[in-house]
Amino acid sequence: MPSFIFFSLLIFLFAIEIASAATQFKPRAFLFSIRKDTKSLQYYTSLEVSTRGQDVPVVLDLGGQHTWFDCDSYKLPTYKPISCGSTKCKNVKSDGCMGCNLPRKPGCTNNTCGVSSYNPYTNDLYAQGLGEDAFFVVGTNGLAVGTTYELPKPFPFSCADSDLLRGLSSKTKGMTGLSNTITSLHSQLSTKFKLPRKFALCLPSTTEFPLGHMFIGGGPYFFQPYSKNVAKELITTKLVINPVSTYPIYTEGDASDEYFIDVTSFKVDNKLVSINATLLSITKEGNGGTKLSTVSPFTKLETSIYKSLVSDFKKAAALRRMKRVASVAPFKACFKATSIAKSQTGPVVPYIDIGLAGKQRWRFYGSNSMVAVNKDVLCLAFVDGGSKPRTSVVIGAHQMENYLIEFDLVSSKLGISTSLLFRNTTCTQSRLI
Ligand SMILES: *[C@@H]1O[C@H](CO)[C@@H](O)[C@H](O)[C@H]1NC(C)=O
Ligand SMILES: *[C@@H]1O[C@H](CO)[C@@H](O)[C@H](O)[C@H]1NC(C)=O
Ligand SMILES: *[C@@H]1O[C@H](CO)[C@@H](O)[C@H](O)[C@H]1NC(C)=O
Repeated sequence: MPSFIFFSLLIFLFAIEIASAATQFKPRAFLFSIRKDTKSLQYYTSLEVSTRGQDVPVVLDLGGQHTWFDCDSYKLPTYKPISCGSTKCKNVKSDGCMGCNLPRKPGCTNNTCGVSSYNPYTNDLYAQGLGEDAFFVVGTNGLAVGTTYELPKPFPFSCADSDLLRGLSSKTKGMTGLSNTITSLHSQLSTKFKLPRKFALCLPSTTEFPLGHMFIGGGPYFFQPYSKNVAKELITTKLVINPVSTYPIYTEGDASDEYFIDVTSFKVDNKLVSINATLLSITKEGNGGTKLSTVSPFTKLETSIYKSLVSDFKKAAALRRMKRVASVAPFKACFKATSIAKSQTGPVVPYIDIGLAGKQRWRFYGSNSMVAVNKDVLCLAFVDGGSKPRTSVVIGAHQMENYLIEFDLVSSKLGISTSLLFRNTTCTQSRLI
């Protein structure tokens, strides 16, 4: 017993030591670059795992619960499995206990806390052991950007079988989850550095360079040459809870940890699109409603909503003398590029507004509502999500590009900027201070 007390005291003193060092150099926010892969239309970032300078490229998934990657491609000398029944394991959405009969390596250990890693592109789900290792991240202390901080405690992830990489951009080796779970990237950083539980995405529309950004820990957000703090200009709408998990595997009674919002209407050139409003609310079985997804390249709408939107868009386009051409799958409303003028916010086409609870609207201009399928043809960049989808409206990545979108989990709100193009800037021009 006395030796136990002595040991606790040592830990206590040690903890004070780390805490004082941490206050001195406390980061205020973290910055990650986001790249877009044009071929796969996936958005990815890099995580510095285990060793300084070892970058693991991973696809961003707003609906993902944790980080997983192909560990065999990396050196993980300080990797440790998280054991079943440990406090860490109890805190995560665990899926039983994992063992492995092959030689021991990261991803192959006995008595390991099991999690389900999901690849949304192939719909594959694998049970894997959760492990942890050192993690380095670039942050700002409010004075300078570019300081690298080591996470005070190791970062949890699972090791993917190479099968699970199918469907991912060839430039990546895994995925990182951004949903509202303890194991997601932003939760780990916010909790371990005691930052506000906020993160923001600013997806780039260009490929490779320059890069878009993800911010973890809150604003201010500046985008040159626009001189104002975009964090102060966000329209906000509440994040709503879907009572039934939307992950492919879950325990009964679990709510969804994806980001749902309350969309109330659609408008084309300020005219209301007639739709069945029941589809916009979430039933007690968890069907319907609207979520945001970075793995859907384009916004997916339930069939009847999609048909109404396309039909109204075609009418409004005709009034603007846009010339229709044959559709290019999967899109249903395509136009001759030369019949459309250009502006700072992209092709000049009918505005699409999504009405949000709180009497707010999210307005899409041509750069977000249209996609160039070739040099001569522009199509309405929304797709048919089927007649009985689990979620009626899935706001996809093309529609989020060049907006600063803040997920504020402190006050359960989603904040959306106006199109940064409207401010003569883009997601690639950001700076943190
Ligand atoms: C796991 O336990 C089994 C049974 O005791 C053993 O055969 C196997 O080698 C162990 N695997 C690892 C990776 O330690
Ligand atoms: C509206 O959608 C709901 C949910 O799918 C359905 O039960 C209802 O019949 C629809 N109403 C109309 C008028 O189509
Ligand atoms: C953006 O640029 C246009 C044309 O160069 C200019 O008319 C407009 O005032 C600028 N807008 C902002 C917000 O700076």
